[in-house]
Amino acid sequence: MNNYAVEFKDVCKRFPLPNGDTLEACKSISITLEKGKSLGIVGESGSGKTTLVRMLMKMLPISEGEIYVDGVEIQHMNREQTRAYRQKIQMVFQDPMAAFNPRMKVKDIICEPLYNFGLLPKGREEQIAGDYLEMVDLPREFMHRYPHEMSGGQRQRVAIARAIVLEPEILVFDEATSALDVSVQDSIAYLLARLQKKCNLTYLFIAHDIAFIRTMCHKVVVMYKGAIVEELDAFHLSDAQHPYTKVLLSSIFEIGQEHNPLSMDTVAGYK
Ligand SMILES: Nc1ncnc2c1ncn2[C@@H]1O[C@H](COP(=O)(O)OP(=O)(O)OP(=O)(O)O)[C@@H](O)[C@H]1O
Ligand SMILES: [Mg+2]
Repeated sequence: MNNYAVEFKDVCKRFPLPNGDTLEACKSISITLEKGKSLGIVGESGSGKTTLVRMLMKMLPISEGEIYVDGVEIQHMNREQTRAYRQKIQMVFQDPMAAFNPRMKVKDIICEPLYNFGLLPKGREEQIAGDYLEMVDLPREFMHRYPHEMSGGQRQRVAIARAIVLEPEILVFDEATSALDVSVQDSIAYLLARLQKKCNLTYLFIAHDIAFIRTMCHKVVVMYKGAIVEELDAFHLSDAQHPYTKVLLSSIFEIGQEHNPLSMDTVAGYK
């Protein structure tokens, strides 16, 4: 039996509105994602992307349908299962500055998840922080800095170090690289591709930047008004049929980037 890393099965999310109406933010979403692969979720603002991943993160209850992770349905987990699940899946947000405590040093920011799970061996904090900083290509000395003493790209690397310190199997990025300039975005893309290969990580990326998605993902789903209107192999984005996807893609194909030079298929053996 093939247990997908993540499987959304007819997932719906309805929000009650103050006027008594109901907003259907996600409509019968079905997606499968294999272990060690990356899914890109694109779509216009308000199409339901964040709502979908918030259900996956167990930050929002599911209205209808099921989400399975490694074959286990996530909505009805007991406390112990939920705790293990929170270790298994981590999220990186758009603005790490907002997510970090400004009074905490980088070493404490990176080790906090371990501390919260009672997994931080006494006296090992600096060793662990240093090792994870190296993993995201930052100098070990950065452990003594505060968030405001780093650039946006460096902070995003610290956010990634913090997200992987619990050795999760799945990482979710919600617009995590949108605010970074293209060269920083590229270097983070390479870093994530390397980590994925090394640790067989499964990624979900929400991004407005279709070029970034194409660089990073094996599969892309396009959301429109709460529904998936198209699912594409990242290698064959130009096969898109839905008018909305065509508009979304026109920007990159117009400038003749049929083959993105940054595509991870240029990193030997990535795909
Ligand atoms: N807690 C909530 N209560 C009511 N409506 C909500 C809630 N959260 C989200 N929504 C609505 O659900 C819809 C989908 O929102 P969502 O945040 O998932 O969109 P998105 O695709 O992530 O958009 P963006 O690209 O702007 O981040 C929107 O219309 C939003 O207003
Ligand atoms: Mg969003």
